[in-house]
Amino acid sequence: MKQTIVIKCGGSIISELSESFFSSIRNLKTAGWNVVLVHGGGPDITNALKQMHIKTEFTDGQRKTTKEVMDVVQMILAGKLNKQLAGEFLKRGLNAVGLSGQDAGILCAELLDEEKLGLVGTVTAVKTEFVELLLKNDYLPVVAPLGFTDDFEPLNVNADAAAASIARQLNAEKLMFVTDVDGILREGKLIREMDAEQVHTLIDNGVISGGMIPKAEACLRSLSENLTEVMIVNGKKAFLEDNQFKGTKIEYKKEAAAG
Ligand SMILES: Nc1ncnc2c1ncn2[C@@H]1O[C@H](COP(=O)(O)OP(=O)(O)OP(=O)(O)O)[C@@H](O)[C@H]1O
Ligand SMILES: [Mg+2]
Repeated sequence: MKQTIVIKCGGSIISELSESFFSSIRNLKTAGWNVVLVHGGGPDITNALKQMHIKTEFTDGQRKTTKEVMDVVQMILAGKLNKQLAGEFLKRGLNAVGLSGQDAGILCAELLDEEKLGLVGTVTAVKTEFVELLLKNDYLPVVAPLGFTDDFEPLNVNADAAAASIARQLNAEKLMFVTDVDGILREGKLIREMDAEQVHTLIDNGVISGGMIPKAEACLRSLSENLTEVMIVNGKKAFLEDNQFKGTKIEYKKEAAAG
């Protein structure tokens, strides 16, 4: 059976992905991996809202998603960015299919805190049948992080959390977060390997902050006996050299999971 890797591509990096990033993906496909992409889109959504003179508020680093904001989020994530990213892969001969987490009911979600965050969802279930159908036929699914409630109301889902949930449901062997920094840094220096305990410590003491918090938390939640390591890498560079991943690797430890 083929092994599966889920790759989350940060919104800030989509238009800056290096040629070596795409060749690293091609190398993974050639080595027989199933590859699934999930992407973010923060900066483009912010720009579009500004152009349309729609005001947004942030609470705890998350955008309050009113109905008006949700329409723009859907337009930018499932429209512009999803097709842009799929196109970048197609251009390089990789068989990408752009989807939203709403298609085929992939991401089922429920409201997190409507009063505080509006139409922001937390993933309650993932239906991977359609994604698996694509993988079996050698397509590369590119998924925008949007979901539906039980009543088919669209919700905005954090892309790091969506990637972790999809990886878990697919029984993926690897999960990788592609972002705009080399990995988790401390005083500007890359930390190559970490375990869950160290990640908690760095969140508590503020070394891990801002957008790295939901990412680090998604890493921790996704680790299991099947998915034993999660990587955070820089999309501006090659993440795979001599079959070695470059960046921060967070590893699963049995005793940590039990505690
Ligand atoms: N200890 C840390 N090490 C590295 N980056 C950190 C750390 N603490 C905070 N950060 C910030 O986290 C950012 C990455 O998260 P961010 O949410 O901005 O990007 P992304 O998740 O890749 O993109 P998107 O949210 O659009 O999907 C870095 O650019 C950096 O500013
Ligand atoms: Mg982020």
